[in-house]
Amino acid sequence: MSELQEVSCRVNGKKRAFVVDPTIPLLHVLREILDLKATRFGCGEGTCGACTVMVDGQAVMSCDLPAGGVDGRRIETAEGLDGDPPHPLVAAFLEHQAGQCGYCLPGILMAAKALLEGEPAPPSRARIAEALDGNLCRCGAHARILDAVEDAAKHMIRGPLA
Ligand code: FES
Ligand code: FES
Repeated sequence: MSELQEVSCRVNGKKRAFVVDPTIPLLHVLREILDLKATRFGCGEGTCGACTVMVDGQAVMSCDLPAGGVDGRRIETAEGLDGDPPHPLVAAFLEHQAGQCGYCLPGILMAAKALLEGEPAPPSRARIAEALDGNLCRCGAHARILDAVEDAAKHMIRGPLA
C-alpha cells in the first residue's frame, strides 16, 4: 500500500475530495468511496469497457486509472446523464431499445458521450463503431446501439456540456 494522498476533483460537476491510496483504481473510488455504482466492474484489467468514464472529456477505463491520477481533473460518470429531460443519449437508447443487460450500458454511454462531444460534426456509423470497439456487448444489440448513438448525435450540442 502506498502513502495516502488527498485527491480533489470534480465528479459530475460537483467538487469531491477524498483521501486514498493513490494506486487504487479510480473505479473503486467511484463505487466504494463516492457511492457511484453505475460504473461497473467487469474484467478489472482494461479489456471490456464496462468501467468506462470520462476524464477531462476523454473516455477512459477507470479500472486501469490510478486514483492519484485524477487530482484536479473533471470526471463524468453515467449518473451525470440523469436529468429531466433526459440526456439525448439516454433518450435515444430508450427509443431504440438499445440497452439490453444494463451491465455494459453505462460504459457504452460514456464512451459514446466522449465521442459525440469530441467530434466537430455527427460522426459516421463506422466512426461510432470504431469508438465503441473497446466496449464489449455480447447480447446482439450492436445495431440498435449504433442506431441510438447516430440518433443522439443529431440532438447533441457539439463540445463538452459540463
Ligand atoms: S472493468 Fe475496466 S475494462 Fe473491464
Ligand atoms: S447491452 Fe450488455 S451485453 Fe449487450
